[in-house]
Amino acid sequence: MRCIAVINQKGGCGKTTISMNLAACLAAQGNRTLLVDMDPQNHCAVGLAVPEEQIDHNIYDVLISAHAENKIPLKNIVWQIAQNFDLAPSGIELAALEPQLSGKDRREDCLRDVMMNEATGYDYVIIDCPPSVGLITFNALRAANEVLIPVETGYFALHGLTRQLETLKVLEQQCSQKISIRVLASMYDVRTKLAREVLSELRKNHSADMLKAVINFNTKLKEAASFGQPITEYDPSSKGMKDFMALADELTESAETEVQIQSVETQLMAISKSANELLNESNRLIGAKPPVKELKENSIQSKIDNFYGVKQLNESIHFVALYPKAEEVAIAGDFNNWVPETKLKAIGQTGKWACELPLSSGTYQYRYVVDGRWQQDPYNASITTNEFGEYNSLLEVK
Ligand SMILES: Nc1ncnc2c1ncn2[C@@H]1O[C@H](COP(=O)(O)OP(=O)(O)OP(=O)(O)O)[C@@H](O)[C@H]1O
Ligand SMILES: [Mg+2]
Repeated sequence: MRCIAVINQKGGCGKTTISMNLAACLAAQGNRTLLVDMDPQNHCAVGLAVPEEQIDHNIYDVLISAHAENKIPLKNIVWQIAQNFDLAPSGIELAALEPQLSGKDRREDCLRDVMMNEATGYDYVIIDCPPSVGLITFNALRAANEVLIPVETGYFALHGLTRQLETLKVLEQQCSQKISIRVLASMYDVRTKLAREVLSELRKNHSADMLKAVINFNTKLKEAASFGQPITEYDPSSKGMKDFMALADELTESAETEVQIQSVETQLMAISKSANELLNESNRLIGAKPPVKELKENSIQSKIDNFYGVKQLNESIHFVALYPKAEEVAIAGDFNNWVPETKLKAIGQTGKWACELPLSSGTYQYRYVVDGRWQQDPYNASITTNEFGEYNSLLEVK
């Protein structure tokens, strides 16, 4: 069984689109494939038309019981999407995995143990990760023997790559297994000169770490997800389908040629060097100031652009959440008497919502109200149980 984790801390770089459609194409080629959604936002279920209200148990239940006597078996949560194609859906509860397992032995091995014992019937397991680093991503990394890092081929995306590599370095220190890490160009727009130059530089200098397949920007991929279908069903004649079939072919062939796997550290150094070189090169191309200076000048905005969750920046608390399909997102907490009248603002067409509150020092509880539905902040692992047996998100202001 090959287990491939799709990881990048940067939000919106195409992880879920790649995970869903790669899994669908591997399945269409006759491989028994399981897609595991490790993002509490449960976007795979939404993108594959699994009715969220009918999901009784999800990957959280399997993971939380993985080392307990009364295990919830993987097969009990799996939904069949197509022939050879199964989904282990996620749920908002997954955001609570880290606090729930705090202090428990081998908490980072829950997914690996489940995969090794219960997913042996699959040829491929694809793991879609959240855009954050913590116990969930670490579980995915431990379970995987390969990592795909989707990278947008635009200028700002390269900052994301450098940051992601720093994260992987931290994870690598705790993770002794050998893993193959490869970069996949995602949302590639051939019409922009910069994207073309970035891709050609990447290919020229670092072909060993770079997959030959490229995922082009293709609106059919966006549409497919909004119709709840993988591209194999929505439009098999599309460019998006061709890209994913080529990716599936390349991955299948690479298993046969048995790529020499170097240590994670060596691979990371090579990819990191490539990211830095590319940043310098793209600065030169667009005549920009050095990226570090630019980031400093615009630091609050750039920080907001690059995180989800809650963060104290200067005197304010910034709340950022991703709800691409929501029409209204409000926040309610003990700072506004739990009245959801404080609205988050949509940030352009990004699907992100944000607001800024001037809170004084103290500990606060809050929840989001998304189109009338109350829920915890999926990007804040700090939670507490409320009187209804649900989770409130916790926030400490210093
Ligand atoms: N190749 C592509 N062509 C067109 N649209 C794309 C492509 N890849 C992703 N998108 C769109 O970009 C948005 C973000 O993609 P996606 O949800 O796959 O990113 P993600 O990395 O999983 O995000 P998150 O970090 O929030 O989980 C979605 O609206 C998706 O439909
Ligand atoms: Mg995603």
